[in-house]
Amino acid sequence: MEAAQRHVVFRACGGNGLHGRLRVPGDKSISHRAVMFGALAEGCTEVTGLLEGKDVLATVAAFRAMGVAIDGPEQGRLRIEGAGLHGLSAPAEPLDMGNAGTAMRLLCGLLAGQAFDSVLVGDESLTRRPMRRITEPLAAMGACIETSAEGTAPLTVRGGYDLRGVDYALPVASAQIKSALLLAGLYASGETCVTEPAPCRDHTERMLAGFGYPVAREGNRVSLSGNGRLQGGRVEVPADISSAAFFLVGASIAPGSDLILEHVGMNPTRTGVIEILRLMGADIEVLGQREVGGEPVADLRVRHAPLHGVRVPRELVPLAIDEFPVLFVAAAGAEGETIVEGAEELRVKESDRIAVMADGLEALGVRLEQRPDGMIIQGGPSLRGGKVAAHGDHRTAMAFAVASLIADAPVSVDDCANVATSYPSFVDEARRVGLAIDVQQA
Ligand code: S3P
Repeated sequence: MEAAQRHVVFRACGGNGLHGRLRVPGDKSISHRAVMFGALAEGCTEVTGLLEGKDVLATVAAFRAMGVAIDGPEQGRLRIEGAGLHGLSAPAEPLDMGNAGTAMRLLCGLLAGQAFDSVLVGDESLTRRPMRRITEPLAAMGACIETSAEGTAPLTVRGGYDLRGVDYALPVASAQIKSALLLAGLYASGETCVTEPAPCRDHTERMLAGFGYPVAREGNRVSLSGNGRLQGGRVEVPADISSAAFFLVGASIAPGSDLILEHVGMNPTRTGVIEILRLMGADIEVLGQREVGGEPVADLRVRHAPLHGVRVPRELVPLAIDEFPVLFVAAAGAEGETIVEGAEELRVKESDRIAVMADGLEALGVRLEQRPDGMIIQGGPSLRGGKVAAHGDHRTAMAFAVASLIADAPVSVDDCANVATSYPSFVDEARRVGLAIDVQQA
């Protein structure tokens, strides 16, 4: 279980907007998958641009504990000696996934196909998150996984069960469920098909194809057959658009801003944040779009622009699901009303992101109404300073720091230690482009 972690408070205040150039760290979703597929591949995989956040380090540690030789990470480089699909060995201890929902859910699918038993544990937040959404469809494939009575971790994944392909329609547009089933499908007899109700991130499908594993897509239906092989190679991880989002919003709302974000992943299943901000009037220019290792990337130039409220189109919600904490901040700084609906998944992320953001923004003087599936926000040009709580959620912590750019006094954000899960260099990089953050640790 989680070692005692220091209590971290950010005290943030804006200045004259955000300026300069920044390459934010590697994409978290792609980094997890690079480690997993590299470990299951034959031959060596060299990863560059890996996110060295705690979530990804938990995935690296899990594969080391299952006997995979991994060098690094050092400055984003990782070298993995692939063990092959059937080369993992039983871990001696429970695998501690910390705060990482992606790691726990994807690993659960992968471990269901192994010959050995394993146990997945996580921190307090991860232990509250729903796991039946993966254990039930995996059980339909023949897997044997035990959860707590509430359907949460610890998860005991029994080995030695024969898996068979399923044809499963996802009840929610979740890439974690889709990916867990596809990973189990690597070990299943026959075909595993997953149908998504709306497009959600497709890094698993893209990266499997990059490792030479055939994956078919027809419309919103993805399928693969078991018992193939993955071939190791090179993976270049683009900068994480979910981390870039804090600066896209910050530069949009802070007068005087002009900022370039380099080498940002532009996978169309992830760019909802850009589309939503543009609907609100943001000035975001896409420069030098190119493709790197099967994923599109570009540099983004963002300049301050007056934002206005919008009704966020429902189909964009899964394409921006991790960006809503900071999109709520954009809405708070926009003229008029913003309506977010169809976003009930936000309630089961690292925190209840609707409640945490609503409480914090209200404390900063924003008028809003919480809905079970979203929020209605009455925006305005500036916020009050004050004290808010991130509730241990990395993305709410960074979103509140960004809110300080338009507050009339400093914003003090409690419980920020988990920023290290996805963006360990956030404070340094924020300071470098003009967002002053003091860090107090206890
Ligand atoms: C992720 C999928 C999303 C996202 C998470 C990362 C992934 O979760 O919120 O941060 O890497 O597959 P859901 O699948 O629960 O929507």
